[in-house]
Parts: sequence; structure tokens; C-alpha cells
Amino acid sequence: MSSGRLTGRSALITGAGSGIGAATADIFAREGARVVVADLDKAGAAATVERIRDEGGVAEPYAADVSDEAEVEGLVEFAVRTFGGLDVLQNYASNRTVVPEDVAVAGADAAVWTRQLSVDLMGCVFTAKHALPHMLRRGGGSITNASSLVGWLPLESRPAYATAKAGVIGLSKSIAVEYGRQGIRCNVVAPGPIVSPGTEGMYTAEQTEVLAEHMAAPRLGRPDDVALAALFLASPEAAFINGHVLVVDGGMSAYAPMVPSFRRLAGEG
Ligand SMILES: NC(=O)c1ccc[n+]([C@@H]2O[C@H](COP(=O)([O-])OP(=O)(O)OC[C@H]3O[C@@H](n4cnc5c(N)ncnc54)[C@H](O)[C@@H]3O)[C@@H](O)[C@H]2O)c1
Repeated sequence: MSSGRLTGRSALITGAGSGIGAATADIFAREGARVVVADLDKAGAAATVERIRDEGGVAEPYAADVSDEAEVEGLVEFAVRTFGGLDVLQNYASNRTVVPEDVAVAGADAAVWTRQLSVDLMGCVFTAKHALPHMLRRGGGSITNASSLVGWLPLESRPAYATAKAGVIGLSKSIAVEYGRQGIRCNVVAPGPIVSPGTEGMYTAEQTEVLAEHMAAPRLGRPDDVALAALFLASPEAAFINGHVLVVDGGMSAYAPMVPSFRRLAGEG
């Protein structure tokens, strides 16, 4: 069901070839936005565009590496040229190839950290840098960047990822403060565990059970859960919301750490 909340808007979504970014592209197009589906993975971007067009939506694919500023500049220019401007920017691109090497700070490998930060953090910097002048020329715009619960509740591993995602919050608040008076809103979605192609194989069966045990919700998250939160932040209903971190974690970060143990003691499994 659509209520046309983004009718007339043009949107650029990175990481839109998979998972949360793809779900966001689908929902934004359903809500009337014209969407540039950007991803390093050309086939992923093409699949999202095909799905949107099959539903009667408007979308164009674009293959770009968000860690390469020149490519990002080309991507933003493409969006502006194709749809006559840019109103909405959504950043979901994330480098998952780093996961096995992103361990123990005492053994930090500069190349691994650079690979993580250059996509997950600098990708957000570059897209904002090149999108903002166009948005400002139109009198405003909305940016949403993907952080993660891990940005302030880190796991035992993945320090570079946690650092990148914490950085995304600082960056987004900075943009909100710097450009808010000129009509720019910049917010953050911070997902908890969401089942997506990006998290496939990331957790063992036992670890998935532990994750489920630590949810206040009766299930793990789905890409749509985050995409719908992002829709709200990009919509006119969120006009007075700026520099906000919207946690989408099924309540995982809402309770005291002993709750699962108490549940077990009460025989609730
Ligand atoms: N899934 C989760 O549990 C979860 C939890 C917290 C935060 N997040 C964040 O949400 C966002 C989306 O997560 P997801 O699970 O849908 O991820 P995903 O891995 O399914 O999708 C990420 C997309 O980014 C693309 N990408 C990778 N490197 C790129 C680059 N250099 N340039 C352009 N595109 C690139 C990939 O090709 C892929 O299509 C990410 O920023 C992630 O960190 C996800």
C-alpha cells in the first residue's frame, strides 16, 4: 500500500543492490520517489531496478564505489541529470569483505581499517559533500545514513566497523547542525540484527539463537523494518526531526543485560 509520501522527490540510495538498501529503494519507489539505485555490485543494482520497474516505479541503476570520491561525484551528477535534481540521499553501502580481518585492536591492520572506514564512513562524507550543493540550491533535502547498534554497543570483534558506525552518527549530527537552517535534515537509522544477504553466514546457528534470546521482539529484524523507519525520516511527517538516531532493533538495546538469564531462570527458555 502506498500513500505517495515521496511523490515528486528524487532519491539516491547507495548499497541499494542488496538487503536494507534494496528494501528502501523498493519502498521509496512505491511511495512515488524516482530512485537512483547505486551499488558497487552492478547485478544487484540491476535486479532492484527491474523489481521497481515491474511494479510500475521509476528507477535507474548506477554502479559506483562510494569510497572513490570521483565516482561519487559522477553518481550525484547522474542523479541530478537524470531526475532534474536531488531531494533525498540514503546511505547503506557497507564493506562486508572486511569482517573476518576486523579483529583485536592490538593487532589492527591499517589496510583493513582503511577499507572499512573508506566505505562505511567516507562513503557518507563523499555522497553528502557532492549532494549538499544540489539540495541547498533546491532549498533543502533529507539525508539518512546507516549506523548500527554496534556503533555504541560493540561486539567483541569488529572494532573498525564499530568505529565507522559511531563516526556516521557524529557526521550526521554535524551535517544537521551545519545545514539545518538551510533546510537540510540529516538523520541516522541504527539497526540491530537484521536478516539480510549481508549478514548471511556472519553468525553460527548458536550465535543466531543467542541473538534471538536477546531480542525484546519475538523475532530478528527484516530489511523492511529499517526501510519503513527510513521512509518516515525522509517523509514530510519528519520535517522537524533533525540529527536524530532512530534505533531499529526490536528493543534489543532497551533492557538490562540480565533479562535473558532471568527468563531462563523463570523457565521461559
Ligand atoms: N543487516 C544488519 O544486521 C545491520 C545491522 C546494523 C547496521 N546495518 C547497516 O545497514 C546497512 C545495510 O546493511 P545490509 O545488511 O542490508 O547490507 P548488505 O551487505 O546486504 O548490502 C550492502 C550493499 O553495499 C554494497 N557495497 C559494498 N561496498 C560498496 C562500495 N564500496 N560502494 C558501493 N556499494 C557498496 C554491497 O554491494 C551491497 O549491495 C549497512 O550500512 C550496514 O552496516 C545492517
